[in-house]
Amino acid sequence: MNIRLARAEDLAGMQSGNLVNLPENYLMKFWMYHIITWPQLSFVAENDKGHIVGYVLAKIEEEPEDKGGEAHGHVNSISVLRSYRRLGLAKRLMLLSQDAMYSVYKAKYVSLHVRKSNIAAIGLYRDTLGFEVAEMEKKYYGDGEDAYVMKLYLQSQS
Ligand code: ACO
Repeated sequence: MNIRLARAEDLAGMQSGNLVNLPENYLMKFWMYHIITWPQLSFVAENDKGHIVGYVLAKIEEEPEDKGGEAHGHVNSISVLRSYRRLGLAKRLMLLSQDAMYSVYKAKYVSLHVRKSNIAAIGLYRDTLGFEVAEMEKKYYGDGEDAYVMKLYLQSQS
């Protein structure tokens, strides 16, 4: 298994994994925008045949000046194909992205939204990576489910 930075030619594989794994889907221009704007933050896992089996898509958000003006990272989407789960891939993808948020963009923290019912992802974020629930957004998702906004303050991995 190889984990590396995502490139433009990976976008179709990333989008196809997203369609299989999650109900939140995005147009190709959304994927492309992230890779072009923050080329150091999104990563893929590829199998021995070069197929994309997991990805993390992330960006940087600048807070307005009246809220401190701090840069922070935001994970838009992460998923791993079912037969490649519980191998530590998502953990590795997240750590690489978090490290780049901190070292390249001086991000103070990373945030994300997750469905209240998503036991696997909440386990990854809270138990493995140390995220905490910052707030709950009622009916955040299109089907009316609530989201947890989770946050992790970043520090050097080295
Ligand atoms: N149940 C409970 N905890 C879990 C589970 C699970 N099914 N899967 C992972 N975890 C937790 C565990 O703490 C695990 O550590 P352990 O294996 O030592 O116990 C830890 O996460 C790390 O697991 P990984 O192997 O790195 O995770 P994996 O590669 O399997 O990917 C993911 C986890 C991305 C959540 C995967 O299950 C998936 O693709 N799910 C569908 C898509 C999804 O829900 N994505 C997240 C949406 S939120 C967002 O994108 C911001």
